[in-house]
Amino acid sequence: MRGSIFLEFYENFAKRYDSLVNFTDRMKREGNFWQRIFKENQVKRILDSACGTGHHLIMFKQFGYDAYGSDQSPAMIAIAKENGSKEGLNLDLAISSFNKLTSVFQKKFDAVVCVGNSLPHLQVESDLLSALSEMNLVLTDRGLLVLELRNYDKMLVERPRFMPLSFKGSRGFIYVLDYFSAKIVFNVIYVDCSNNTFEVYATEYFPLGFKKITTLLEMSHFKVLNAFQDFKFSVFDLKTSDNLILLCKKCSN
Ligand SMILES: C[S@@+](CC[C@H](N)C(=O)[O-])C[C@H]1O[C@@H](n2cnc3c(N)ncnc32)[C@H](O)[C@@H]1O
Repeated sequence: MRGSIFLEFYENFAKRYDSLVNFTDRMKREGNFWQRIFKENQVKRILDSACGTGHHLIMFKQFGYDAYGSDQSPAMIAIAKENGSKEGLNLDLAISSFNKLTSVFQKKFDAVVCVGNSLPHLQVESDLLSALSEMNLVLTDRGLLVLELRNYDKMLVERPRFMPLSFKGSRGFIYVLDYFSAKIVFNVIYVDCSNNTFEVYATEYFPLGFKKITTLLEMSHFKVLNAFQDFKFSVFDLKTSDNLILLCKKCSN
């Protein structure tokens, strides 16, 4: 067996990212949710601020929205561009970290999206506040912010060491989680049994619990409208939900 540990997680992992998630199923599961919240909030222009390999962006474009994507990883953005081309779309993409949004985008958005547990990659409160403040500033008045993250309150009680295996044929992913006082390390092991090789990647998350994120949102001039556990509008429960989806409105500063 051969393996290697990469530090720059997304730069190295980008080539594997789309085989980690079944995006066709995910977009089918999520489509109605996005269309409904965008319609209810009169959204026309959207920024996906951690667009990754671009699947939400492609779906938003296909729904007819004026959609833009940014991400701090050039490798993820490159794959988003390719994924867009495969769908016949020339995506509007920019390489940007959350805390640079106002210098990268001159236009304002009716909605900013940050899904796939992306925000908790920031591990320092000042960085989280700066990210939320930039998201606030690129929004129109009463614009919508949609965040999706894991329910870290539940995770820190249960402290799972492993996540469900995800295998397609002889290739798949194994996850091993390490808990530290202020972070959780997700070790992702990609295994290819057809040629006995594996690759080891590691990325870190700040366990951003419900109270903390809602307090930071208030400090950043957002009002939390709703908390869901999934894209079917099921109400979030601190003890039982695996994920947290927050719908927030920009308040006047
Ligand atoms: C788990 S992926 C989620 C991607 C996509 N939203 C999805 O749901 O598939 C997390 C993404 O967040 C991006 N990211 C992490 N830290 C970031 C930051 N500070 N600014 C912007 N993007 C960031 C990563 O490059 C990566 O593409």
